[in-house]
Amino acid sequence: MAGTKTFTMIKPDATGAGHTGKIIDRIIGAGFSLKAMKLTQLTREDAESFYAVHRERPFFGELVEYMTSGPIVAAILEKDNAVEDFRTLIGATNPAEAAEGTIRKEFAESIAANAVHGSDSDENAAIEGAFFFSTRETV
Ligand code: CMP
Repeated sequence: MAGTKTFTMIKPDATGAGHTGKIIDRIIGAGFSLKAMKLTQLTREDAESFYAVHRERPFFGELVEYMTSGPIVAAILEKDNAVEDFRTLIGATNPAEAAEGTIRKEFAESIAANAVHGSDSDENAAIEGAFFFSTRETV
């Protein structure tokens, strides 16, 4: 069934710990369908560009170092109310504050290494999805 879209990345802490399959299983089990997916590794330029909105934040350098430290899985997901429902599924940015049963509660190591990214608006979901995928790579 068609719905709205969101964008996610499974981050280097989670791919490195072998959690990729379990996280994808949780996402599909929560009713999201995969519209595009790839395993890749961000260059410094990629990470600085993707997270440009955070450039002035004190954690920007740490964020770029971390996001380039290993492979990530990027994906476009579809579901009714995708952005909000996905943020509920993953839990708070800081895993110490994430609700029981959320992906970050189960898999994240810290506020920096927090296992997954989820878009914060429909507009950013479209921008972030287009950062990684062309139209012909999306089903
Ligand atoms: P994400 O949802 O991918 O969007 C921005 C990221 O910045 C966020 O997840 C965290 O990984 C990271 N981040 C946010 N706040 C902090 C912080 N205080 N210290 C380190 N990293 C942070």
